[in-house]
Amino acid sequence: MEYTNLLLQHQGNIAVLTINRPKALNALNSETLSELSAALDELGRDSSVKAVIVTGSGEKAFIAGADISQMKDFSPLEGRRFAQLGHATFRKLELLPQPVIAAVNGFALGGGCELAMACDIRIASENAKFGQPEVTLGLTAGFGGTQRLPRLVGTGLASELLFTGDIIDAQEAYRIGLVNKVYPLESLMEEAQKLAQRIAGRAPVAVQLTKSAIQRGINLDLDSAQAYEAEVFGLTMSTSDKTEGCTAFVEKRKPNFEGH
Ligand code: CAA
Repeated sequence: MEYTNLLLQHQGNIAVLTINRPKALNALNSETLSELSAALDELGRDSSVKAVIVTGSGEKAFIAGADISQMKDFSPLEGRRFAQLGHATFRKLELLPQPVIAAVNGFALGGGCELAMACDIRIASENAKFGQPEVTLGLTAGFGGTQRLPRLVGTGLASELLFTGDIIDAQEAYRIGLVNKVYPLESLMEEAQKLAQRIAGRAPVAVQLTKSAIQRGINLDLDSAQAYEAEVFGLTMSTSDKTEGCTAFVEKRKPNFEGH
């Protein structure tokens, strides 16, 4: 499918999804969110894709937020609908079967930081900047920031970032656990690819079930989450990849996973 504000490229079994509105620093308007939702449906159906990388077009911005020029004239009902579209799209991203790596290549502000937080793993370039500056515009974070940021960095740090709208650099984002690694901009995509390839080389069903256990379990109490983990663990026993992985270990050779 062709998109106006997105690029969806396949590199072997890795898909790279690029938000592509460089003139607006890749800001998310409703059209871009709807396209993102459609692209995620496409990716979710494609069992040849083993991992997804999300990034922004150009060298300046990952995503500079929700589109301020569009939000400027919203009525309350339009604002609510926009937030719901963001929520539904980012939740779809979070629950995509395949693991998703955000390669944050510049500004990740407001909705951009929120999109990165809905990815499973975040890596950043040295020039990346993170923040939830909504209060500087008279807004609240509306695409999940008030919920995912405290879950990732704790309520104290999240409250400070959300109340002040302060922008932090990549090293500070690394220090507080918002990103896993920081790389020079020129090697960011190569490092994202390497990580995606490492994940794609593992047993695909086991990776997808692990993601499901994390994403479904994190919002449950421990007993319910562990009960779900036990079901997921049990399910892996039915896969030929489990037979292959364990047999390869015993035979002291590399496994050859086929994804079922
Ligand atoms: N929405 C719409 N357009 C945006 C945008 C946004 N979030 N961010 C940048 N742009 C546009 C600018 O209007 C500008 O367009 P023109 O060339 O047509 O004037 C273009 O992108 C380049 O931006 P700047 O000239 O501002 O670039 P800069 O290098 O001087 O500054 C920046 C970069 C610091 C990121 C600055 O653009 C900025 O502060 N952007 C807004 C960041 C922000 O507040 N994001 C949060 C939005 S609210 C939100 O996301 C709500 C939510 O949770 C749902």
